Amino acid sequence: MTILNTAILGLQWGDEGKGKIVNFMAGNFGAACRYQGGHNAGHTLIVNGKKIVLHLLPSSICHKDSLSLIGRGVVISYDALFSEIEEISQHTSGIADRLKISPACVLIQPYHKLVDLYREKSNNQKNIGTTLRGIGPAYEDKVARRAIRVVDTLDEKQLRPLLEETLDFYNFSIEKFFGKEALSLSNLIDENLAFGEKVKPLLADVSMLIKQLNFKEKSVLFEGAQGALLDIDQGTYPFVTSSNCSPSGIAAGAGCGPLDVQNILGVVKAYVTRVGEGPMPTEIHDELGDYIAKTGGEVGATTGRLRRCGWFDAVLMNRIIQTNSIKGLCLTKIDVLDGLDEIKVCKAYADDETDTTFGECMDLDNVKPIYETLTGWKSPTKNLTNFDKFPQEAKDFISYIENICEVPVKIISTGPDSESTVLR
Ligand code: GDP
Ligand code: IMO
Ligand code: MG
Repeated sequence: MTILNTAILGLQWGDEGKGKIVNFMAGNFGAACRYQGGHNAGHTLIVNGKKIVLHLLPSSICHKDSLSLIGRGVVISYDALFSEIEEISQHTSGIADRLKISPACVLIQPYHKLVDLYREKSNNQKNIGTTLRGIGPAYEDKVARRAIRVVDTLDEKQLRPLLEETLDFYNFSIEKFFGKEALSLSNLIDENLAFGEKVKPLLADVSMLIKQLNFKEKSVLFEGAQGALLDIDQGTYPFVTSSNCSPSGIAAGAGCGPLDVQNILGVVKAYVTRVGEGPMPTEIHDELGDYIAKTGGEVGATTGRLRRCGWFDAVLMNRIIQTNSIKGLCLTKIDVLDGLDEIKVCKAYADDETDTTFGECMDLDNVKPIYETLTGWKSPTKNLTNFDKFPQEAKDFISYIENICEVPVKIISTGPDSESTVLR
């Protein structure tokens, strides 16, 4: 058998339906592996008719014959991890036997959450509209080489001096700038050590585990969180998250070589959504935007915020597909557009000077979308499982996206359940 390690990642601003697709595919893989982000993610699955929202656990977690891996590029809040394990254990048994976590993961500490909150609430800086989970500050510590990692919480002798120094650094800000009471070192040490004991049985060398699975001819699914347009390097900076959500993050965050990812599939909605601040050229500002949000249930799975909605942006997608070795698309939520008279797709940008000059800086503030208007379809695609049954106009819409994005649409999702999926 040939190994086909496959990445499933979002190409837009997150919430493309990655969770559904990973859960749909995971049964055919030895494992699924999260490689970046943290509990800022919200991945929704329907398992046995029940809706499950995962934040940290890979979307394979309900598959009893697959492992679920958390690679070293993920930032972990112990609190969030153990609450989620407890909650999801109501839906599936044996999580502890198949969840494997890298001891090299950086931990999100209570001071990271405070800093995230303080920055977002203060008017001194442009708000990003973060999920307030402490994600950015935790990654800052990683890059500044002062982070506390999972491995540090296994041994008090290792933890104490690290936490002492880092907490000194944070308590200065907490007291002087936030006007709050300093955090207690001894409480933090106790909490971290207690969680360290609890996490011990779940730890594994995830990097080598991937190698071993491949050696046994089992392929691995890499599950992205967020989306390429929120990627710290290629997204709409500074309105991005703090990790590499795109394929470039996989090798670093899962711990494999770049050539160990043989297949990269991008998940895109049939339209676009965004939570939080930042440019979104095709945003729909009238009641049609509200209609799509309502029909698509576009409410943030993590923060409950309303998602902004817009038309499919083929200009951004074409760039992202070309620069990320995307081999095919999973097109989700096409059913949300059922019944619309007209459907637009942004095929080019114009601005006062030249076309498509946004370039690597993703300078999208002043671009003006030029749309192709396609005819909508009257008979529903909702829950269809056979492409032949699709109305011709929906087939035309898919062909248009394939042509303009220059990649095939390999999977079409027509509803939240796994069954509502078309493989081509
Ligand atoms: P993720 O973060 O990429 O995993 O996506 P989310 O779970 O945050 O958001 C996607 C939402 O759309 C969830 O509520 C899914 O249940 C739902 N969903 C996924 N695919 C489809 C689809 O094809 N059609 C419809 N109507 N809903 C879908
Ligand atoms: P999934 O995996 C949509 C957004 C936040 C904010 C920005 C930075 O479910 O697709 P952060 O808390 O990461 O520092 O916030 O990124 N954001 C997401 N938007 N889906 C997500 O995850 C997101 N995770 C972060 O709204 O704009
Ligand atoms: Mg989500």
